[in-house]
Amino acid sequence: AVFTMVDQETCIACGSCGAAAPDVFDYDDEGLAFYIGDDNQGNTPVAEEHVEDLEDALDGCPTDSIKVAEEAFDGDPAKHE
Ligand code: F3S
Repeated sequence: AVFTMVDQETCIACGSCGAAAPDVFDYDDEGLAFYIGDDNQGNTPVAEEHVEDLEDALDGCPTDSIKVAEEAFDGDPAKHE
């Protein structure tokens, strides 16, 4: 399975991930991105049909704030680093 979440400490609200992967990422009131699947906890696998969009978003994030791993994040973006 593929898991993801956004590190909101480093996200600069550039807006590119939601354009690349509109079913995976949305933005909060400050424009910071979050993973739609489980309110940015990174514990709910990304749906198979959205993984390609996720990879595009990952490639396009200018601050490397999108975290992707094969295991859950438990709300900690640095969990797998
Ligand atoms: Fe933030 Fe990167 Fe998305 S800077 S808005 S997580 S593309």
